Amino acid sequence: MSDSSSAGKENLRIREMTIDDLSEVFHIGEEVFTAESFQSLYRTWDEYEITTLFNSDNELCLVAEAGDKILGFALGTTVTKHNSPWKYGYLVWVGVRRDIQQGGVGSGLFKEIKHRMKEQGVRMMIIDTSADNLPAVHFFQKQGFGDIQEHVYMSLNLSRKSRKKPAKKS
Ligand SMILES: CC(C)(COP(=O)(O)OP(=O)(O)OC[C@H]1O[C@@H](n2cnc3c(N)ncnc32)[C@H](O)[C@@H]1OP(=O)(O)O)[C@@H](O)C(=O)NCCC(=O)NCCS
Repeated sequence: MSDSSSAGKENLRIREMTIDDLSEVFHIGEEVFTAESFQSLYRTWDEYEITTLFNSDNELCLVAEAGDKILGFALGTTVTKHNSPWKYGYLVWVGVRRDIQQGGVGSGLFKEIKHRMKEQGVRMMIIDTSADNLPAVHFFQKQGFGDIQEHVYMSLNLSRKSRKKPAKKS
């Protein structure tokens, strides 16, 4: 049994992320946000994601730990829209170490971040993930999310030389 899988759920503690946690959280993210499940260029897991959210929304940057080992994390922010009285809570990243997934850690993190967002006046939570990331889709559905909306992302390669159209023959 590995260290993290032997960390009992009863010892699970959800707390705010501190600066000392940044590198561990970053490496867990590298493990779980794989190229297969996160192919979008628009969402890239890198150190700026953590530090930006940590600087702007520290109360919504949480880790789950057992003993001195971090098992997972949830990073969120709040968004207000022009012309809307509603405050939105955006759960930007949630990740749990591979070897202890489906053990309730993600649900524990979600419960706490939802509670904190509610305290901050959030009326609606939003998330996004790849349509083919079925574990995440099921996870979010289990947390009560619905109303799935699909987006289309397109790209245009500007380094490719455009071919000139042949002149029309008269
Ligand atoms: C999504 C993720 C955070 C869930 O964390 P977790 O600790 O495994 O989730 P939980 O154990 O709390 O699961 C709660 C519910 O989610 C659903 N679920 C979780 N993992 C699932 C899977 N692999 N397949 C199907 N359903 C799943 C189940 O309904 C589960 O309830 P159950 O245990 O009663 O069946 C985790 O799988 C993960 O880190 N995935 C990779 C990163 C990712 O895709 N993040 C989301 C987008 S940012």
